[in-house]
Amino acid sequence: MENKWLNEAFKGEMPSGFQGKVGWASLSNIALVKYWGKKGKQIPQNPSISFTLSECRSETFVEFEKADRFGFSFFFEGKENPAFGAKIEKFLMDNHAFFPFINQQNLKVESRNTFPHSSGIASSASSMSAFVMCLLDIESKLVGPSTDSGSLDLCKASYFSRLASGSAARSVFPKMALWGATPYYKGSSDEYAISLSDDIHPVFKTYHDSILIVSGKTKSVSSRAGHALMEGNPYAPARYAQANENIKNLLAALKGGDLDTFINITESEALQLHALMMCSNPSYILMKPNTLRIIEIIRQFRDETKAPLCFTLDAGPNVHLLYPDSEATKVEHFIQDVLTNYCDQGRWIADRVGDGPKKLL
Ligand code: PMV
Repeated sequence: MENKWLNEAFKGEMPSGFQGKVGWASLSNIALVKYWGKKGKQIPQNPSISFTLSECRSETFVEFEKADRFGFSFFFEGKENPAFGAKIEKFLMDNHAFFPFINQQNLKVESRNTFPHSSGIASSASSMSAFVMCLLDIESKLVGPSTDSGSLDLCKASYFSRLASGSAARSVFPKMALWGATPYYKGSSDEYAISLSDDIHPVFKTYHDSILIVSGKTKSVSSRAGHALMEGNPYAPARYAQANENIKNLLAALKGGDLDTFINITESEALQLHALMMCSNPSYILMKPNTLRIIEIIRQFRDETKAPLCFTLDAGPNVHLLYPDSEATKVEHFIQDVLTNYCDQGRWIADRVGDGPKKLL
């Protein structure tokens, strides 16, 4: 795959007057089977499956013009942001052989997120995939459309999004994506994610993800450090075996619309992720007292009402409450009346499964 895209890289002379502006919106995603632990160049230790969201997204615009040498600036919500810009610049330098045309480009990147600041929601999946879509869009203006339909090649977008930020690989597909090679799904790969849209029961396309903000503070352990801690974790081999088993069973549940198995695996995966961090060295407790309180109340509500709702967690204290659209009225009352009491200033974000990245310009 690498060679194919290396061979196709535009190595010609940039046409004079080559300039313009592209823009893409890309989404955050929430993993059900978690990616936690990596090897080599952003290769996951186990496959993962996620919902692509629709409200938590990054909108990125890139102005490009022919120049004598590579030039780059990055603005986040109107202000120059060298720290985040440095991450994109490093990605461009590391993968320069695939995009040699950037040597003759001045790029001005402007990005914003639709989700609030300090919501504790990681933006690297949405922002990196939005940037990669912009980069491939500029490239397509030099080499022609990458697919017969004229749209961008999502497999390629996923491959480079992975190199920019692991879980970003899953953000380029609508509804649900699978990243990581597994014998249980044909065409799956460690190098890029693939769409699961055609193999999921319609109920999962209606899912809501109500994100309950327990704390808006940034995470106390970066995901890079978290992945690295798996290297010395004595439970790592058991974890990877369990994740593979969960992939097999979740794929079957997604296809058959089996909500009980979905709930079981999703909650177990969230708690395993946190358990792994608790038994790392150094160890981290990323849940807060209100995270546990919310989990208890969700389970109690499920026992009492039999509503098929469940939770998952990212590497932080906020709770993602997942449920099908048929339960939305009931669950939203429950959130307003009960759960917001345990949220930071009562904050929550009403998100749901979405249609994937959109071209803005
Ligand atoms: O993509 P990264 O390196 O930020 O890692 C993401 C890790 C989790 O969000 C905790 C799990 C996942 O699969 O998204």
